[in-house]
Amino acid sequence: MKKKLIAGNWKMNGGLAFNEALVRAVSAGLAPTHCDVAVCAPSPYLAQLQGLLAGSGIDLGAQDISQFESGAYTGEVSAAMLKEFGVRYAIVGHSERRQYHGESDAVVAAKTARALASGITPIVCVGETLAEREAGKTEETVKRQLAAVIHVNGHCISEIVVAYEPVWAIGTGKTATPEQAQQVHAVLRAQLHAATDRSALMRILYGGSMNAANAAQLLGQPDIDGGLIGGAALKAPDFLAIVAAAA
Ligand code: G3P
Repeated sequence: MKKKLIAGNWKMNGGLAFNEALVRAVSAGLAPTHCDVAVCAPSPYLAQLQGLLAGSGIDLGAQDISQFESGAYTGEVSAAMLKEFGVRYAIVGHSERRQYHGESDAVVAAKTARALASGITPIVCVGETLAEREAGKTEETVKRQLAAVIHVNGHCISEIVVAYEPVWAIGTGKTATPEQAQQVHAVLRAQLHAATDRSALMRILYGGSMNAANAAQLLGQPDIDGGLIGGAALKAPDFLAIVAAAA
């Protein structure tokens, strides 16, 4: 039975005291759940989070991973460094990194390959901008972005998690309707099915203003296997409500 995954993406938020309070509140409120839960924290806090999450059943994720093994890559964080802090997931190709850091499909593929080679599960983000949706290019965009990672260096595509994050829904409060999200998730599932016989076991998360009020409807869709949560992940009651909706 495939378990849903609810992963919080804290983005560039947090602080030592904030992190401790948030994790303790989430851990305390986490009822025995039938879904996987993870938090993806900023790199400076990975050591703290590793300690705070110990024994909680909540996995630790990173928000990025270097495509390189090690060396003269100022500011980057390697897979080996992430593994030292017990990181299980790494978000790859988030729209904010594609936008602000010029990450191309090729870079996203290289990061995906690096994560897989290191035993870290990549959460590969795909999603269209409002202009692409309004131009009827949603499917074209997400299929192109997913195709870039489907055949990375011989690794089985079934080892990745995919996150559909319509850019126009991120941080805007304008969530995709369950029907809109399911339509794109079905397209991604079909694309994965053409590449592996394990597509039904893979998890396709939705991200983009998922919150306590809309989580149940979104998570009830047949091809939505969890959520990648931004703003709502920073508030323990909201994050716990989304986890409860996934159970
Ligand atoms: O990676 C998840 C994030 O992009 C969604 O953000 O604030 O719309 O839940 P938010």
